[in-house]
Amino acid sequence: MSDNKKKIILTGDRPTGRLHVGHYVGSLRRRVELQSDEAVSDMYIMIADAQALTDNFKNPEKVRENIMNVALDYLSAGLDPERCSILIQSQVPELTELTFYYMNLVTVSRLQRNPTVKSEIQMRNFETSIPVGFFCYPISQAADITAFQATHVPVGEDQKPMLEQTREIVREFNSTYGKTLTEPEIMLPEAAACLRLPGTDGKAKMSKSLGNCIYLSDEPDDIRKRVMSMFTDPGHLKKTDPGKTEGNPVFIYLDAFCSDEHFAEFCPEYANLEEMKAHYRRGGLGDVKVKKFLINVLLSTLEPIRNKRKEFEKDLPFVYEVLKKGTEAARECAAKTLSAVKRSMKIDYFEDDSWIRSCRQIN
Ligand code: TRP
Repeated sequence: MSDNKKKIILTGDRPTGRLHVGHYVGSLRRRVELQSDEAVSDMYIMIADAQALTDNFKNPEKVRENIMNVALDYLSAGLDPERCSILIQSQVPELTELTFYYMNLVTVSRLQRNPTVKSEIQMRNFETSIPVGFFCYPISQAADITAFQATHVPVGEDQKPMLEQTREIVREFNSTYGKTLTEPEIMLPEAAACLRLPGTDGKAKMSKSLGNCIYLSDEPDDIRKRVMSMFTDPGHLKKTDPGKTEGNPVFIYLDAFCSDEHFAEFCPEYANLEEMKAHYRRGGLGDVKVKKFLINVLLSTLEPIRNKRKEFEKDLPFVYEVLKKGTEAARECAAKTLSAVKRSMKIDYFEDDSWIRSCRQIN
């Protein structure tokens, strides 16, 4: 696609909890920047409650509650309802309809080969009995993306297989029924550290139950405690020992979060992260000092977000209106795509008289 064409952005999150720093560096920070990118014409941010229900169907309360949490995190991180539509997935029924038609274009074995589905099946012990709804969520995600004719989808690396699946569905649809849908591109974070930020314990997966996340809304004391207990290089026992920075969670977090300005403000003896890393590798730089610096970086990044959240929390009716308006705008767009899809699939019987006229030829 040529660069001068306008970009349409669609992305989203499952409302199963508050958003954490992994969401922030993986995609949220990028979305906020994209709002002021002139090449972007429309931006839709989806709270994917229907998708969250595919593996939380017995726990609808959790999903219902967390819609507000995610909306508050979005607004406090800087998503501006004047510049993007924040929508609730289940309230756009056109998405479900699109999903149903796309199902014809995907095989069971293709879904089984989707690496994200594969690992989630294992994680949830679904091996022996996979709920059909869960199994089909990549198809519904393709509907989410194509309903808005999204050209770009900013997400973390874990969503790569979903985008691949979506692109295949688009190609299959367009070659079967004629060009109707837009093939989206994934937008991954540039820095390797942001692709998949590890938990504070170094584990790949950040989760509430592992207690290894830093949430956007965490209080300064929680952040300090969490960072002070972070894993570092296990071979770096004494300050004078040479240490490893690669694979060291504290440095991965610094890679994802810190800028040269942070050094000027909090640790002026180094000009940048490269200098600090070089010192650590040589030996002579203690973990506590690096962690204190990381605490300052995180506190200064998260403080404005936390403060804004407290303001929005006092005005929930405003958030409600944002969601309602965003969902209405989204429906309008999705309805256009759905009717184009139905026209291409020749299931538009009542749109004009062409179908009934073709029936008359029966006699
Ligand atoms: N699968 C995403 C997640 O687990 C959420 C999501 C649903 C999404 N629909 C989407 C992301 C469409 C990008 C585009 O967080």
